[in-house]
Amino acid sequence: MTTRRFPDQFLFGAATAAYQIEGAALEDGRTASIWDAFTRVPGAVIEGDNGDVACDHYHRYRDDVAMMRDLGLQTYRFSTSWSRVRPDGGAVNPKGVDFYSRLVDELLGADILPWLTLYHWDMPQALQENGGWTNRDVVERFVEYAGTMHDALGDRVNVWTTLNEPWCSSFLSYTGGEHAPGHTSIAEGLLAAHHQLLAHGEVIRELRGRDADLNLGITLNHTVADAADPSNPADVDAARRVDGQFNRWFLDPIYRGQYPADIVEDFRAVDAEAVARFEAAVRDGDLETISQPIDTQGVNYYHGDFLAGEAPENPPVSGGPRTERKGRSPYPSDAGIHAVERGLERTAQNWEIQPEGLTRLLRRLSDEYTAERGVTLYVTENGAAFDDVVDADGQVHDADRVAYVRAHLGAVLDAVDAGVDVRGFFYWSLMDNFEWAWGYDKRFGIVRVDYDTQKRTVKDSGREYARIIAARAL
Ligand code: BG6
Repeated sequence: MTTRRFPDQFLFGAATAAYQIEGAALEDGRTASIWDAFTRVPGAVIEGDNGDVACDHYHRYRDDVAMMRDLGLQTYRFSTSWSRVRPDGGAVNPKGVDFYSRLVDELLGADILPWLTLYHWDMPQALQENGGWTNRDVVERFVEYAGTMHDALGDRVNVWTTLNEPWCSSFLSYTGGEHAPGHTSIAEGLLAAHHQLLAHGEVIRELRGRDADLNLGITLNHTVADAADPSNPADVDAARRVDGQFNRWFLDPIYRGQYPADIVEDFRAVDAEAVARFEAAVRDGDLETISQPIDTQGVNYYHGDFLAGEAPENPPVSGGPRTERKGRSPYPSDAGIHAVERGLERTAQNWEIQPEGLTRLLRRLSDEYTAERGVTLYVTENGAAFDDVVDADGQVHDADRVAYVRAHLGAVLDAVDAGVDVRGFFYWSLMDNFEWAWGYDKRFGIVRVDYDTQKRTVKDSGREYARIIAARAL
């Protein structure tokens, strides 16, 4: 087998998010976020799980950073909790800020680059009570919160990500009903997405004005939408719609200052009133703000979609967890769109394992959006849940995850070989955690967490990742 080396500047990391690991939900002045509220809605989360304790990282961050150092991580992607830093979206909470300051010091002491995300889905519940992301006023609150984080950490943190996966925190949350706040309105999804993009642009402008040397960007989640039968126009159209709503709805405003016209029309055909509200909400100058130049784009990739366009008898609502809630498809003209089987292996969440999709995605982003604008790509999330077993020796021999990581890192190297400027990879996730609507049912970590004792155990996949990092090669 030939050895494949990673470029010298390529960074290896792992990712987490505040609500998924911190716990300490009501400690040191933190107040409820939309996820604290949503997890209390009967049937919203598998087993009724919540993030009250999660991985107790708020109290164990020192040990967790030591573990990252032992794994050889060069960078750590984490998010800050808005409701810890500015409870209820109001005044600054010094104790909340101090937690992140101590975390950053600990990371720097371990020679790990802090990669900070401002929004990984946990808006203060008090702001949601005024409409959340459907209310334009929230944009200003978000810029204030970003300013607070920069005041506290700007001297030590260089990489700033505005939003994590705005598709999820808008369409999946305000239209699909699967994530907090669990609404099912097309208009709300459209408004939430627009205001999040606007908040992204305003924060880029604010932070750039404060310090021209910061590395600024956004993380988007993408799917690779393939037509099940490329000779069937209905399938080709299903792929266009899913690509348009999932990928282009965010890429086009950020890089080209415009929303994709075909998808606007798809939405109009389903809900003309929603589109009228959306169009009224897009004010002069908004798209210019949204398309502020960025330095870095984070790419989260889990799986592709193999799509058919003709309605099956019982169209599946979404590929999400089987919670008791009834959501709706977050796609426009959704009635006929559904994913079909193509015989690939799957993860414990029934997600297809399709590493070559990652190569195609990176190439496409580079060709159509990022290369000409000098934007660097990083894979900010990729990973898989499997049904881990703790052996008699107390170890987790997760051969399936080892294979997954190796295959996807290989796919990244294929993109590098094709000339794509991709400079890093963050495994999702550093450790098992609260996986949103899936609760604690699904385990993604390269480190196992025993939720009764909070004991961390590095899995075989963690050891393999550490070996790859040390060798800087596959
Ligand atoms: C991404 C998120 O969508 O996928 C992570 O950014 C999340 O926060 C991960 O945990 C896995 O998805 P899920 O739905 O299984 O938690």
